[in-house]
Amino acid sequence: MSNDRLHTASPEFTAKSRFKPEDYDRLYAASVADPDAFWADIARRLDWMRAPTRIKDTSYALEDFHIRWYADGELNVSVNCLDRHLATRGDKTAVIWEGDNPEVSERLSYRELHARVCRFANALRNLGVGKGDRVTIYLPMIVEAAVAMLACTRIGAVHSVVFGGFSPDSLAGRIADCGSKVVITADEGVRGGKPVALKANVDEALRRDGTSVVETVIVVRHTGGAIQMQAPRDRWYHTLVEGQPDTCDPERMNAEDPLFILYTSGSTGKPKGVLHTTGGYLVYASYTHESVFDLREDDVYWCTADVGWVTGHSYLLYGPLANGATTVMFEGVPNYPDTSRFWQVVDKHKVTLFYTAPTAIRALMREGEAPVKKTSRASLRLLGSVGEPINPEAWEWYWRVVGDERCPIVDTWWQTETGGILITPLAGAIPQKPGSATKPFFGVKPAVVDASGTVLDGAAEGNLVLLDSWPGQMRTLYGDHQRFIDTYFRTYPGTYFTGDGVRRDADGYYWITGRVDDVINVSGHRIGTAEVESALVAHPKVAEAAVVGCAHEIKGQGIYAYVTLNKGETPSEDLRKELVAWVRKEIGPIATPDFLQWAPGLPKTRSGKIMRRILRKIAENAPDQLGDTSTLADPAVVDSLVKERLIR
Ligand code: WT7
Repeated sequence: MSNDRLHTASPEFTAKSRFKPEDYDRLYAASVADPDAFWADIARRLDWMRAPTRIKDTSYALEDFHIRWYADGELNVSVNCLDRHLATRGDKTAVIWEGDNPEVSERLSYRELHARVCRFANALRNLGVGKGDRVTIYLPMIVEAAVAMLACTRIGAVHSVVFGGFSPDSLAGRIADCGSKVVITADEGVRGGKPVALKANVDEALRRDGTSVVETVIVVRHTGGAIQMQAPRDRWYHTLVEGQPDTCDPERMNAEDPLFILYTSGSTGKPKGVLHTTGGYLVYASYTHESVFDLREDDVYWCTADVGWVTGHSYLLYGPLANGATTVMFEGVPNYPDTSRFWQVVDKHKVTLFYTAPTAIRALMREGEAPVKKTSRASLRLLGSVGEPINPEAWEWYWRVVGDERCPIVDTWWQTETGGILITPLAGAIPQKPGSATKPFFGVKPAVVDASGTVLDGAAEGNLVLLDSWPGQMRTLYGDHQRFIDTYFRTYPGTYFTGDGVRRDADGYYWITGRVDDVINVSGHRIGTAEVESALVAHPKVAEAAVVGCAHEIKGQGIYAYVTLNKGETPSEDLRKELVAWVRKEIGPIATPDFLQWAPGLPKTRSGKIMRRILRKIAENAPDQLGDTSTLADPAVVDSLVKERLIR
């Protein structure tokens, strides 16, 4: 599996890179030896309304648990992303928006973006939105998404962006959980030429329990498609911003004031509201963005992630804009109008830094080299990967075909919870091994532990934990601090448990092996097995369901569901399709089961616990590795499941 070929950046790259081969060990050692001094220094990159004097104040000890960074500092995120660039970069392009339709794009300067953010921030204030209020954003990849997020930060409102691919039910749950009084949406989105009914989804979501807190729905007119506007609840974005002043007093925020909530799947049914705060998050997003992408003033940086995911928060919006960079925002998909689209956009906007997910690389790899090679890509100088382990074959293809063996690849490991990149190469300083995220970023202390929590030294394989805090770490789960502590800090006391398995090789390189909990990584997106199971059992014909991950050539992992029907129901191809469609409707297309196997019974212990280990092995087509089945209540069910397995 592991390919230990070392890729060292070219002398031309290293000549100009921020970090040189000799820098890493020394800077890393300094960063962990004296975190206070290191992070005090790094924090000076931001404009503070009150400079922090307290830097790191954290403890993972359960009896004295707290995480605070820069606790006496005050700042405003939108000021750091916009106002402070106006004097030197007012006319520089902040955002290049590329539409789904390849004929449509738009460039916004820092000055224009500042004005649009201020106008919308004023409009929100007029609606009574203020510091600490929650605002749900359910928008496609249009400029208004960036404007809305920044406008919230301007007035101290806490945004919760919900990916536009989520269903009305998923949206409703997220609105209710954080009690948003405003929802910002668009009439429709468009992806690959097809409309996405966003406003209609909001209408449906707001008929669900727990959403009556919503006072106002702000609607961006994007496609002009027909929608229902319900007075007085629904307001057009363009009428609200009309006539608003293009300046707006920024709210003074404490470094530890909440900045945003982002829901992510865990191993239980209910998505978790990951909460990030203001100061530490922005310091970390901005510093990692500059360092990992080797950012220079004239770069055109493109992260293909949607703003509905954390990558879209830290590395499409906040990191790049805090750094005064030019960031590309792409509404479309990699295969529309054809599979050259990514590279056409690279050429059109002269993109220099490109950041995408392995699933996209694998999908494009399948189309062959021609769609890539017919484009120039001469502007590219660095490539990034995020979201899931990148298999060495995809890595080599990215390097050879996309980057013409010229561009270093940064395989960045991190999580919604970590706020920013934790394990990654620094292109000029750390040689890359295809498939390895390589080494910890400055200030980050990973460790490999065995099942009992013993920290392993040297080359080792086990679970990945972090021994100490970093500024971008999440602070709590919204409304459930106890669940935060229980989920991340109780498994291996004194450490943050990532939920990932890892191998560290003899060179100290980290190789992430994937989730070790009940979370499936589908195309770089996290899906909880329990979420899919509860969607399935909500169907009137389903008695029981168990869901596991399976290998998937493009998605990395696919969703494999075992379903037991109610007495009297008979399996059929139509019912299988109906159940797959049902899950899509309940959660969203990203949760679509790839395989659905009828299960007359599920393997259970005598106490009734489903033995997922066995189901995972069957889905892996490894029936010879089922292990001990003697503790099962009815070992015979396994034989029938093996016989009927869908992957061979
Ligand atoms: C999980 C976090 C980080 C933003 C996107 C996903 C997996 C992420 C890598 C990588 C191997 C990776 C892990 C992690 N993951 N990046 N470079 N190599 N695995 O954020 O939805 O919070 O998922 O994605 O399993 O725990 P997320």
